[in-house]
Amino acid sequence: MTLQITRPVQTDLAEAAVFFRHTIEDTFLRNHIPVVPPTELAQECAWKLEALQADLKSCGAERYFLIARERGGIVGTVALSPASEFVREHIPAIYHAWTCITTVLVKPSWQCRGIGTQLLSAALGELRRREEPGFLLDTGYATARVYWTAKLGEPDHVLPRFWYGKDDHCFWVRGVDRPTFPLHGA
Ligand SMILES: CC(C)(COP(=O)(O)OP(=O)(O)OC[C@H]1O[C@@H](n2cnc3c(N)ncnc32)[C@H](O)[C@@H]1OP(=O)(O)O)[C@@H](O)C(=O)NCCC(=O)NCCS
Repeated sequence: MTLQITRPVQTDLAEAAVFFRHTIEDTFLRNHIPVVPPTELAQECAWKLEALQADLKSCGAERYFLIARERGGIVGTVALSPASEFVREHIPAIYHAWTCITTVLVKPSWQCRGIGTQLLSAALGELRRREEPGFLLDTGYATARVYWTAKLGEPDHVLPRFWYGKDDHCFWVRGVDRPTFPLHGA
């Protein structure tokens, strides 16, 4: 594998739109989340693309994406974002200014080959460069919960059966240098 992780450029937008749609639709299907009518799927893809556009317009100030490419094609993304209102509602106020690691997406045909791990490391590297002490991460996908629990330990806060009456929404608050070590119960 000759993976390269780089900052996005304007010409990535069209390919990124296809990548988001393909990867998020696959994630919905694997998590038995309805994709028809595709309102939430379309909205989720639109939000990701808007975030990428905000990164490009603000030169990384509003959002900060890293793109993983293999043989020239996009195979993964990660983004650093300010905590959303939803995240802030569910974590203690002392962490509200911390950055969220979001949009960790790996193209289905490239999953389970270490790309997600490399994207997480790259995001942590950027947070270290900024001298930020920690980060927030949240997910409502049951499959991602298993992945993040293996990486970060048990979530600090869980909203039981928050999605579709079946899937929990989970939140992690972690230090940059010890991401597997819980700080405080959020
Ligand atoms: C979750 C995701 C980002 C992981 O990226 P990845 O490149 O597939 O993961 P890696 O290859 O780095 O996996 C590393 C480890 O996690 C394990 N793993 C991968 N996907 C897993 C999953 N869904 N559940 C449990 N473990 C998983 C691998 O077996 C591997 O274990 P090992 O280190 O003991 O060998 C990727 O599968 C993905 O994009 N999923 C769909 C979108 C999604 O849910 N994103 C997260 C949103 S919060």
